[in-house]
Amino acid sequence: MQKAKTVVMSGIRSTGFLHLGNYFGAIRNYVRMQEEYDCFFMVADLHSLTTHPETKELRQNVTRVIAENVACGLDPKKVALYCQSHVPETAELYLLLNMLAYKGELEKTVTFKEKVRQHPDNVNAGLLTYPVLQAADILLHRAKLVPVGKDQEQHLEMSRNFANRFNHRYGEIFPEPYAFNFGEELIKVPSLDGKGKMSKSENQMATLYLSDSDDDIRKKIMKAQTDSGPTEPGTPKPDYIQNLFLLLRLVSADEVLKKFEKDYDHCNIRYGDLKKQLAEDMVRFIAPIREKAAAIQNDSVYLQQIMEEGTAKARKSAGETMRLVKDAMGLAY
Ligand code: TYM
Repeated sequence: MQKAKTVVMSGIRSTGFLHLGNYFGAIRNYVRMQEEYDCFFMVADLHSLTTHPETKELRQNVTRVIAENVACGLDPKKVALYCQSHVPETAELYLLLNMLAYKGELEKTVTFKEKVRQHPDNVNAGLLTYPVLQAADILLHRAKLVPVGKDQEQHLEMSRNFANRFNHRYGEIFPEPYAFNFGEELIKVPSLDGKGKMSKSENQMATLYLSDSDDDIRKKIMKAQTDSGPTEPGTPKPDYIQNLFLLLRLVSADEVLKKFEKDYDHCNIRYGDLKKQLAEDMVRFIAPIREKAAAIQNDSVYLQQIMEEGTAKARKSAGETMRLVKDAMGLAY
């Protein structure tokens, strides 16, 4: 069955508070894509169990991800916004794709090796097959475009491999899915201390969350690493300075960015002023999202309605794909 509009799919794990990396790597593009594409966006609660087996805060984490997505401008009437575990077809396709995924390639996945280092006492099979579950999320809707940040590139490559293996063995069902950022490079929002990237569960003092108070935002930015500035024109920016400029580019006006670029080139930049300006622009950016998300988070009737409508749309599309998959595999008797 040919779909009328290009299908878009993406997901966010429910492992903590959303941050600027999630916004600029993913959600901003969800919002930009919702008008033109057939969009499926979900909260990956099953994926979060691979590293966060404690479920006491899961409900709150899942609803907050939904609330924050809507607060950022996603319209649940225009897209399917749902929770992964509400679509059981995901688990069914995951099982079938597992027969096409090899232990060797799964063990070589960068994110798997990272998690093994971080949690050596919990190297479970779900963690090993994490990319297969992600491929199931995407292929379940026969999506072609997947708006994600740079850290997801390898998972997308694996999704293409599983899709191609399936098509080769059983018949052409799945299009190849590609990571998408409107033709630009995929984004990586670095942490404020210049060590690694912003993250939901690590590096919290160097990560700006969409739920941070105005004071926290100011404090975190004022503490960001700087130095005494360049002394010779043409000096390349060190990584931690580059990071501050990247954040300025994301939330400040063009003239502001140009002024500080010029000051840097003329070797008279004052990083204290840059950080103050960035902090105020960041507060202006984050505060309305934080307030809107808090209001939605308190509206359990609205949240329930979003999830139910999202599930219905996602299961309709999933059911169509699973029929094609089973027919192609000869699992139809
Ligand atoms: P997760 O929950 O770690 O992140 C959600 C989205 O935010 C992006 N992101 C970033 N982008 C730029 N800079 C950063 N510092 C940064 N941190 C996170 C991620 O690239 C992602 O787009 N495996 C996925 C969840 C998932 C999924 C899927 C994604 C499950 N199924 C199907 C796409 C399609 C993950 O852990 O994302």
